Amino acid sequence: MNAAIRAITRKAIHEGFNVFGIERGYEGILNEEIKPLLRRDVGGIITTGGTYLKTARFPEFKNPQVQQEAYRILRQYDIDHLVVIGGDGSMAGAQALTNLGMSTITIPCTIDNDMGGTQYTIGFDTAVNTVVQCVGKIRDTSSAHERVAIVEVMGRHAGHIALQSGLACGAEIVLLPEHPLPLTEVCERLNETHRNGKTYSVIIVAEGAYNSYEVSDFIKANTYLDPSVTVLGYLQRGGAPSAMDAIMAARMSELAIDALLDGRDNRIIGYVDGALRALPYKEAKEITYPIQEEQYELVSILSS
Ligand code: F6P
Repeated sequence: MNAAIRAITRKAIHEGFNVFGIERGYEGILNEEIKPLLRRDVGGIITTGGTYLKTARFPEFKNPQVQQEAYRILRQYDIDHLVVIGGDGSMAGAQALTNLGMSTITIPCTIDNDMGGTQYTIGFDTAVNTVVQCVGKIRDTSSAHERVAIVEVMGRHAGHIALQSGLACGAEIVLLPEHPLPLTEVCERLNETHRNGKTYSVIIVAEGAYNSYEVSDFIKANTYLDPSVTVLGYLQRGGAPSAMDAIMAARMSELAIDALLDGRDNRIIGYVDGALRALPYKEAKEITYPIQEEQYELVSILSS
C-alpha cells in the first residue's frame, strides 16, 4: 500500500495535480482527515509495511446517505478525482461515489487476489512470500519430529494464497474454499502416503475452507498421526513489499493517473494476461479469475 501511496502522490504531482491524502479510508472522508501530500511526505515509505495513511473497515459506507455526505465533503475540499487503493469493498465505495458524480480510479490492493477485472492485486505476492518463508521453517520442525503440519492462511473466501503458497512450498495437501476436499479423503491420503514412506506432511488450509483446529482434531481421530496447527494470521499482512508488489504498485499508479488525465476514469486498473489496463467497474465485476484447476491438480501430482 505504501508503495502505491508514494507512486500515486509523486506521479500525480509530476502531472501537475495537487494531492491530498485521506487517512483511514472512507471513514476519514467523513471525519475530514484530509491532508495535503507533497513529494517529501511519502519519502522512505516504499519499503515499509502497513499504510502511511492508515486504514479502517467502515461498513457504514454502504449507506447512501453516508455516501452523499462523503461526496459533499470531497467537493468542499475541491477534490476532482479520488484514487482508491483497496479491495472489493473499497471498489464498491468508489463506484458509489462515481454514481454521485465523483471521478474515481481504483488500484487493486488486497492480499486475497480476489478482485474482478484483474489477475493481480498488490499485496498478494508479498503475502505468498511470507507464507513460503514461514512454511519453510515449520517444515523443518515437522521433518525433525516426523509430524503433520497444518498451516492456516488468509484469503477470505478465495484460495489463491493457499494454492500459490502450496505450490511454492511443495505442500502435500491444500484445502481451498473452491475445493473443500472431504476430511475423510484427507485422512485416506495421509494414511496411504505415510504408510508408503512419508515421514511428515504439510497441509495448507485456506481460512475460507476449514477451521484448521477442526482439521487437526479430525486427523487425530481418524489416523495414527499427531498434527500440529499454526495459524499465520496477521504475519501475512505486514512486512516490506516484495519486489513484484513494489513494481506493480508503481506501474498501476502510473496508469491510474494517466487514465484520469485521458478521461478514462471510473475504472479499476487491472493486470490481465500480462498487460495493465483500465477497465470500467461494471465490466470488471463481470470478469472474475478463479483459481486454476490444473494448478490445484499439480499440487497432488507433485506431492505424492
Ligand atoms: O481481505 C484481507 C484479509 O486479510 C483477509 O484475508 C482476511 O480474512 C481479512 O482481511 C481479515 O480482516 P480483519 O483483520 O478485519 O479480521
